[in-house]
Amino acid sequence: MDARVEKCLNTNIKDLINEFNEIQTALDKYEIGCAPCSLGTCKLKDVVSIHNLNAENEKQLFENIFSIIYPGESFEIPRIAQEKKTSGNGNSMSPPLRMLVDEHKLIKRILAKIPAIVEILDVKKQEHKDIVLAVADFIKNYADKYHHAKEEDELFVQFDTSLDIIQVMMNDHVQSRGYVAEMLRGVEEGDTSIVKNNLINYLNLLTEHIHKEDDILYPWMDMNMQTKTVGMLYSRFFEINNSRPDVQPKYEKLATILEENFSL
Ligand SMILES: [Fe+2]
Ligand SMILES: [Fe+2]
Repeated sequence: MDARVEKCLNTNIKDLINEFNEIQTALDKYEIGCAPCSLGTCKLKDVVSIHNLNAENEKQLFENIFSIIYPGESFEIPRIAQEKKTSGNGNSMSPPLRMLVDEHKLIKRILAKIPAIVEILDVKKQEHKDIVLAVADFIKNYADKYHHAKEEDELFVQFDTSLDIIQVMMNDHVQSRGYVAEMLRGVEEGDTSIVKNNLINYLNLLTEHIHKEDDILYPWMDMNMQTKTVGMLYSRFFEINNSRPDVQPKYEKLATILEENFSL
């Protein structure tokens, strides 16, 4: 790759726009609104991959930008963004949806330990009670307030929320809150079978729910989301994560502790 191309790809987009104002006009054609973005930390190459442009649009955009920076010259420019696919494990998704798929991975690590917890559970024992309370805390403060909140408050509202596919997901979220409330009631009343039933109900519901989101809902949303929406969501998700930097490490630690202590 030409060293000048490489340097530009690794330059902060706002610095490029400041130096060459016409670059913003070139980006506007693809609905990439870098000027109003609150982050302002993306490199040129990130801007292209974040917005998941197709190969043709990416090529045209780069040609436009490099003709502004180096008029009259032509360059061999590498393909940056990944191609969209209709399904997958998150690797082919746009960056904001990949963030949600990565959060699912942590939820699945905790879900995977539920059968082993249920196997030995006796909530009359304080240490077992503490385990259920830690799992319930994870469900409330990570799976729900950190993850489901991003889906409901930021992602789903970009679509017609009366659509069946979205209604089903919202109902799952409501149902999951019911299961965790019952789990806590079981702990309060010292009733192990209530806790076990609701842990299993939660495991079954969330396993299916995550499968529907990873394989159906998110790929469909990615296919139907405007480029500017992808960028806006990425920015919002970063803001949310940065406002609560302790959340992800706290619950990764919990997953590790459960993995070290529970196996079937
Ligand atoms: Fe969800
Ligand atoms: Fe989700």
